[in-house]
Amino acid sequence: MSFNLLKGKRGIITGALDENSIAWKVAEKAHEEGAVFVLSNAPIAMRMGEIKELAEKTKSEIIPADATSVEDLTNLFSQSQEVLGGKIDFVLHSIGMSVNIRKKIPYTELNYEYFMKGIDVSALSLHKMLSVAKKMDAINEYGSVVALTYMAAQRTYPFYTDMADIKAMLESITRSFGYHYGKDKKVRINTVSQSPTKTTAGTGINGFDDFYSFADSIAPLGNASAAACADYCITLFSDLTRMVTMQNLFHDGGYSSTGASAEAIAKFGAK
Ligand SMILES: NC(=O)c1ccc[n+]([C@@H]2O[C@H](COP(=O)([O-])OP(=O)(O)OC[C@H]3O[C@@H](n4cnc5c(N)ncnc54)[C@H](O)[C@@H]3O)[C@@H](O)[C@H]2O)c1
Repeated sequence: MSFNLLKGKRGIITGALDENSIAWKVAEKAHEEGAVFVLSNAPIAMRMGEIKELAEKTKSEIIPADATSVEDLTNLFSQSQEVLGGKIDFVLHSIGMSVNIRKKIPYTELNYEYFMKGIDVSALSLHKMLSVAKKMDAINEYGSVVALTYMAAQRTYPFYTDMADIKAMLESITRSFGYHYGKDKKVRINTVSQSPTKTTAGTGINGFDDFYSFADSIAPLGNASAAACADYCITLFSDLTRMVTMQNLFHDGGYSSTGASAEAIAKFGAK
């Protein structure tokens, strides 16, 4: 069902690697809701990913950009405005990568070069994007930027290692930049804190499947899917949320407000 919520809006959607990616679902929904947008991902992911299929389906152009490169991001914002014919109304930051997680290095023994790389790719990239966009005045008033995050920024999950600290930084950049961009240009910036989701980035985390089931048994509504996350992002890009900014918004079926569920407790009951 479409509500034309994004009719006439222009966007940039990063991070669609394959059909499981949260960004992939956001692109499909944004297309259904009447938006025009460009797709972007790291040049290396372009070669491996299936993004061309998504571009055809959503009638979008692809502009490669390494999110750690200010030069690439400058090109992304200038090209996007040219291709789409005007300033940008919404941006999805759906980028995350930790070499420490990939290499299964425990939190107390982190490799600091990998840690810096993770910070650059997954948190500073948001600052760089926003800084480039603001300097170029590339985003319309009440335009909306959404970045994806996880609750390990607030509470400890041992297997999430350095990404916990990196997501805390991402959420802090959202508030700090949200203040300045809001004051100067009325641009909105929020993070969506999503349930565990079966994507390339998600399933790369040690013990993901067990944790996925654990979270599903705690959340009253169960884990939120990537498609449901896309729906939520669409509302944040739309004019219906014009006064929402600088927030970390949980999209997790109620998991973050639940201490214990009867179902999970029963597993520990006396036999
Ligand atoms: N999957 C989950 O359980 C989950 C839960 C909460 C939040 N998130 C967040 O959602 C976002 C999207 O991840 P996903 O789960 O859809 O997985 P995904 O693997 O499909 O997407 C991650 C994307 O980041 C891109 N990327 C990596 N390095 C990049 C770079 N240097 N420049 C540009 N792009 C780069 C990858 O190419 C990929 O498209 C991430 O920020 C992730 O942390 C995921």
